[in-house]
Amino acid sequence: MCGIVGYIGKSQAAPILLDGLAKLEYRGYDSAGIAVFDGEDIQVKKATGRLKVLSELTHDGTTMPGTIGIGHTRWATHGAPSDVNAHPHYNKERTIAVVHNGIIENYVKLRTRLQEKGYTFVSETDTEVLAHLLDYYYTGDPIETITKVMHRVEGSYALGIIFKEHPGTVYAVRKDSPLIVGKGKDGNFIASDVPAVLKYTREVFFIQNEEIAALTEETITFFNIDGEEIQKESSMIEWDINAAEKGGYEHFMLKEMYEQPKTVRDTIAPRIKDGKIVIEELGMSDEEIRAIKRIHIVACGSAYHTGVTAKYVMEDMARIPVEVDVASEFRYRNPILEEGALVIIISQSGETADSLAALREAKERGVKTLGIVNVVGSSIAREADSVMYTWAGPEIAVATTKAYSAQLVAEYLLAMKFAQVRGMVTEEEIEGMLRDLQRLPEQIEMLLNNKEKIQRFANRYIAAKDVFFVGRGIDYAISMEGSLKLKEISYIHSEAYAAGELKHGTISLIEDGTLVAAVVTQEDLYKKTISNIVELKSRGAFVLAVTNTGHTEIEKSADYVIYIPQTNKYFTNSLAIIPLQLFGYYVAVGKGCDVDKPRNLAKSVTVE
Ligand code: M6R
Repeated sequence: MCGIVGYIGKSQAAPILLDGLAKLEYRGYDSAGIAVFDGEDIQVKKATGRLKVLSELTHDGTTMPGTIGIGHTRWATHGAPSDVNAHPHYNKERTIAVVHNGIIENYVKLRTRLQEKGYTFVSETDTEVLAHLLDYYYTGDPIETITKVMHRVEGSYALGIIFKEHPGTVYAVRKDSPLIVGKGKDGNFIASDVPAVLKYTREVFFIQNEEIAALTEETITFFNIDGEEIQKESSMIEWDINAAEKGGYEHFMLKEMYEQPKTVRDTIAPRIKDGKIVIEELGMSDEEIRAIKRIHIVACGSAYHTGVTAKYVMEDMARIPVEVDVASEFRYRNPILEEGALVIIISQSGETADSLAALREAKERGVKTLGIVNVVGSSIAREADSVMYTWAGPEIAVATTKAYSAQLVAEYLLAMKFAQVRGMVTEEEIEGMLRDLQRLPEQIEMLLNNKEKIQRFANRYIAAKDVFFVGRGIDYAISMEGSLKLKEISYIHSEAYAAGELKHGTISLIEDGTLVAAVVTQEDLYKKTISNIVELKSRGAFVLAVTNTGHTEIEKSADYVIYIPQTNKYFTNSLAIIPLQLFGYYVAVGKGCDVDKPRNLAKSVTVE
């Protein structure tokens, strides 16, 4: 989704803005622009396509003088990617410039009203109404003007604004779209996400809904929607800037795959104390855990896939009924949330619009909510009744890998905790599971170190048209993620199917040589899936099987086999997903795709 950066300080603004925007590239975008006050006027430069086009246009920003400015990477929603639709947008006299992330839902009405008052629009965007609305309500006092605009617009927004008449201040405001303020030594910053400012400062303020920030070179002041000054505490970012850099890897995705052993270890370690599972942040007594009648897991994309795994694990291990929904469905399907329900929202970014809306829906209905979130201080983390953080650090590649792995282990821990408290597992079983859980990082590492085998195999499939992923139970959940990894970065059509469903339609798609990845890690379902493999083979499929070490007899049915180390039946997803991530990655690399920034996708989907 769109990225916002703003700067005011002693240095030339444009190079800093471009540098910050580069750190936000992972969010996804199709055009970029910056506005800088040069001492006399607001100068604006925009360019469709990659940020390097804008950098070339401005000689890395050096041709734009001025020490105050705002910048933006746009992910098109209203109007095609084009120079004119790119942000910043400005009023006719170019005395006010604005960048926006989010969607103004009542923009058609506002635009009509403004047109009736003589305003002319040049772009197709919803954002342009903000520039004209700021002009219309301008009183000479920016805070007063901004609050008037806030009262008129509906929807979600994070805004960076500069006024020619107030050249010593950058203004920022947010509602339901992320925005942070960075407090630097020689200047201050606004940004959609922390990596954009980390090079300059670790001290940040998280702007909350309907709060405004006014930044001068030396001061940062916050206001509420009524224009009253408010006090806010800053936070220190603990993670290192290297965490948001490629560190010698060809792509962020590869680096992040290699960070999985650490991520999994970091997410597990603080929750095991003296051999016991301790999830303090859950904020639920044993009695409350015993009283849970139903769990609703709500998430999007890969986070949803971890939720599907969690359903299998929690239902089987803790014997609690679990429903899993994609958030965009949950929020509109009038879900039945009865007393004793626990709603778990899973999100890496903590800002996904549908997941956030689902959380609010659940809260409105008075049920307890728990967020499993990676980004500290994000909206879902703040609004959920309790939050269990996945300690994956910043994830930059659009295709999630390490946050996915961290979510899985957080969910295993929850399931174990619930099962233990509800008396569904013995102490010995928990001890055994904890041993297996703690071995996952080294086993993941081992699989990663075997990457050449997958790479060679992947190179054979860069021209594939369709690839299918099949499995049963937890293996079906793994298949869903394996399929998403492949399609989102390599653009190869791919689907995941519950292996038992093949005969009900999908098998007609199998032709000579069609690649099918079969995940076979669940002992009790092993024979069933092998039968499906045989059926697929007899229709001409080429079958890649991912199975547990020791199951060598599968080589009689499958064409190519990848073995994963032995682990507890509930945890196999954490291992089987590694070769599938690598497969998707190497196919995409082989095809020359933009692995970290696949077309049309955004890292953080902050609009509906
Ligand atoms: O930030 P979230 O976890 O809420 O994002 C949810 C999905 O958009 C995300 O998992 C998406 O499917 C991944 N980028 C896929 O790799």
